[in-house]
Formats: sequence, C-alpha cells, structure tokens
Amino acid sequence: MQPAALSPTHLVTTRERLRSELAAVRSAGRTIGLVPTMGALHKGHVSLAEASRRECDFTVATVFVNPAQFGPRDDYQRYPRTLDADLAALAEVGVDLVFAPDVDEVYRPGHATHIEVRGPAEPLEGRFRPGHFRGVATVVLKLFNLIMPDRAYFGQKDYQQSLVIRRMVDDLDLPVEIRIGPIVREPDGLAMSSRNAYLTARQREQALLLNRSLRRAAELVAAGQRHAQVVLADVRSLFAAAPDVRLEYFVLADPETLQEVERIDRETLAAVAAWVGTTRLIDNLVIGHES
Ligand code: PAJ
Repeated sequence: MQPAALSPTHLVTTRERLRSELAAVRSAGRTIGLVPTMGALHKGHVSLAEASRRECDFTVATVFVNPAQFGPRDDYQRYPRTLDADLAALAEVGVDLVFAPDVDEVYRPGHATHIEVRGPAEPLEGRFRPGHFRGVATVVLKLFNLIMPDRAYFGQKDYQQSLVIRRMVDDLDLPVEIRIGPIVREPDGLAMSSRNAYLTARQREQALLLNRSLRRAAELVAAGQRHAQVVLADVRSLFAAAPDVRLEYFVLADPETLQEVERIDRETLAAVAAWVGTTRLIDNLVIGHES
C-alpha cells in the first residue's frame, strides 16, 4: 500500500483550508459529491465513493469519529481508527479530497447547537440509542455547511439514518441531493461494518444470524405469509435458539414512516439490531416487493 504522504488524495484537516479549496472547485463550476464516514473503511464505504466519482466532478470524503453520536456506554474510545489505510483506499477510488479533522476543529469550545429530528429518528435506533441521531444530524448538517455538496452519499446499511438525513434536508430546505447506496455484504451475507473488526472468529459466525433472520422473514413472505406476528414469532425463535446473540429488536415496518405493520401487503422494511458479545450490529432488508 502507498504511504499516506504520497497519496494523490489530498488530506485536509482544517475548516479554513477546506473552505478555500472547495471555493476554487465551485467557482470552476464543478459539482461536488460528499461521502461522510467515520473511517475504518470497507467496501461499503468505497461503493459510495465510487458512486460519487461517477456522478460528480469532485468527490470529498470525510473521516471523523463523531463523539456526539456515541452514548456514554457506546464504543467511542475503542472505535477503530485506521487513517493511513483509509487514505490509501480513498486514493485508489480517486477521491479528490479527504477532510479528517480533529474533534476540536469540529466542536469548538462553547458549542451549544444541536439538530433534533423527530419522526423517523424516534423508533428503533432512536429508542435504544438516545441522542444518537441528534449527534448524527448535527455533524452531517455541519459537514453540509462546510462542504456545500451538490450530492451526498449514504448507505442503506444505516436505513434509519438515511431517512433521518432525508427528513432533515427536506425540513430545513437544504440544497443537497441525498443518494442512497445498497448494502455491501461479505460473501456469506454479513453486512460490512467497521464494527465487524471487533468480532472473534466464533462471534463472526454467530453474527450471520442477523442476515439469516432477515432472509428467513423474506422467505416466509415470499411463500405467502402476510401476518407480521407469524413472521416475527418465527424469527424470534431463531434468536431464542442462539443464546450468544442477544436480540434488541426485529421489526417489520413501513419503509417510509418506520411504523410497525400488522400485514405485509406491500414493500416492508425488516430491520434488526442485536448484540454479539459486546458488539452491537444492525442490518435490514426491504421485503415483499415481489408480491
Ligand atoms: P459510518 O458508519 O462510517 O458509515 C458511513 C456511510 O457508509 C454511511 O452512510 C453508512 O450507511 C455507509 N455504510 C456502512 N456500511 C455499509 C455497507 N455495508 N454497505 C453500504 N454502505 C455502508 O454512518 C456513519 O458513519 C456516521 O453516522 C456519519 C454519517 C458519517 C455521521 O457521523
């Protein structure tokens, strides 16, 4: 791998430098694509950067582990930080600029403003990770204001996060087009995640249950089952038989409102969160569209 210092991808760490470089890009009439990340990059992140490269003249990726979106018992301290490898991966895709600021550059002393999205931010992750989406929305709005992208790229892996960002963009009339990329998975179905790095080989195997449970729900629906309670009971029994995986939620919900459904008569979001050891994983699948 190329050392970061020789990387053709330009690393910027201050807001001032970021603004001046992007002003030049904008005044040359070039469109800007933004790919926000917390680093520890994998093929899921890379697929978003590739989409931006295809659709925009200039691609900015951000690498920032945002403390505001981690709760007091969350994994902020142990979250993987792999900036050199991230820069190499982004250079390979042809990302033009990487903004990787320190925490103090983003949250300056006296910071007192936060974005609170209701509606789609309230159930699921909102219930189990209070304050999480407040931190996400706040940092994403700050990145939008610093970078002023024409398009910003997010992954369906964090389905609810995408809805929250869309809601914020719509509610606050932000001039940015939100693009959502499909979930990139390992060959065995495990959704790629920076947090997979925490898993032991045995836990990595156990973690497959998340994707398996989603596929099981999809199979039942494809076979004609329409009652959410029947599907949920079946899926919960899979988790009951796997004592090393602790289910936090498995829901069948409206893909727009995230309201839980009783019948699966149209496209339905199946979303799951579970703990494998001390690692919390999420996954989702939109099912029922073939009916
Ligand atoms: P992070 O978890 O690093 O994810 C950055 C982006 O990559 C998110 O939009 C996420 O949905 C997407 N992503 C993650 N895994 C993926 C996969 N397997 N396939 C496709 N896309 C995937 O999400 C965040 O960071 C933060 O909340 C952030 C938006 C950067 C704000 O801090």
